[in-house]
Amino acid sequence: MRLRSALRLTLLAAAVLATATAVSFAQDTAPLPKVRLIATGGTISNRDGGRLTAEELIKSMPGLDRYVRPEYEQFANVASGSLTLEQWLELSRRINQLFKDDADLAGVVVTSGTDTLEETAYFLDLTVKFDRPVVVVGSMRNPSTLGYEGAANLLEGFRVAADPASRGKGVLVVLNDEINAAREVTKTDALRLQTFQTRGYGVLGVVDRDRVVYYRDVIRRHTAASEFDVFAIKELPRVDVILAYQGAPGDLIESAVDHGAKGIVIAGAGAGATSGTQSEGINYALDKGAIVVIGTRTGSGRVAARRGPVPARFGGQTLTDEQRARFARRLSAEDLAPVKARILLMLALTKTQDPAEIQRMFEEY
Ligand code: DGL
Repeated sequence: MRLRSALRLTLLAAAVLATATAVSFAQDTAPLPKVRLIATGGTISNRDGGRLTAEELIKSMPGLDRYVRPEYEQFANVASGSLTLEQWLELSRRINQLFKDDADLAGVVVTSGTDTLEETAYFLDLTVKFDRPVVVVGSMRNPSTLGYEGAANLLEGFRVAADPASRGKGVLVVLNDEINAAREVTKTDALRLQTFQTRGYGVLGVVDRDRVVYYRDVIRRHTAASEFDVFAIKELPRVDVILAYQGAPGDLIESAVDHGAKGIVIAGAGAGATSGTQSEGINYALDKGAIVVIGTRTGSGRVAARRGPVPARFGGQTLTDEQRARFARRLSAEDLAPVKARILLMLALTKTQDPAEIQRMFEEY
């Protein structure tokens, strides 16, 4: 009897072992995720005597093929501030097309200069309509500098893009072992390696030696849930950002509108205050039909949107229809940084001129 149950146990153990081996064998032979690098330039490529190409960036990462099947292409090789808005549209169309044409493509890594990286990343966050990861990576030290961290950042970007946990999180920014959301991240220091920070909310996750770890999600609308279609946009309208500071002249706002701005974002003091003659400038812009969005220059916090309809009276006076229309076109950026509010406003204006609709977007994205 005892012998029979020992035999049964041995057989059971052998079966469990065989199954486990089969599972681990299946995992070992599953193809690695395919991740494509789209290189646009920036310090990460800016080697003395000649910029690194996409191919050279791929070769700079030892052990890359332990994580992914890499592909690459050169989109541009310039400083981030040299990318034009037309190139933004082109880049977004390219990424959308790649995902559409290749169901096997797990993710995309985009290299960018760090100066305006957060803007490019947020533009992609609002316009790449897939939930597969797009990871934007840069570096603070160039390849000719001792302590160049570009290859390490790039490898981390590939690991993040290859990780199924990165799906549906919107466009991600990876530098210095940290994962931040494109919507929230800001370059906070001109030189330091830990420059990319999400003030107020913190990182989404980290890239450690053993694995990629997430701690939270962005619950705002982005990527696959976006209503913006780059294939339907020929050109982005002009929207300018104007800083509030003591005694600021409103004629800068007037000049922007006279030069064709369809929208103005005010980087207001505190919770959106202006100074000097800026309120006259804002009224001029509103009277010309521009949308004015008020944000904060503080680096975090929100400027709350007005609730409900435009009031019939304001400051003890009954408003005329014209005054009410002007009032309606003055909107709030909520917690978006002014440079990102500008991107959302540009995209919003390609779809509608209705201020209530545009304010809705600022509350959803
Ligand atoms: N500071 C870099 C950037 O944001 C520019 C360096 C370069 O020339 O690539 O793009």
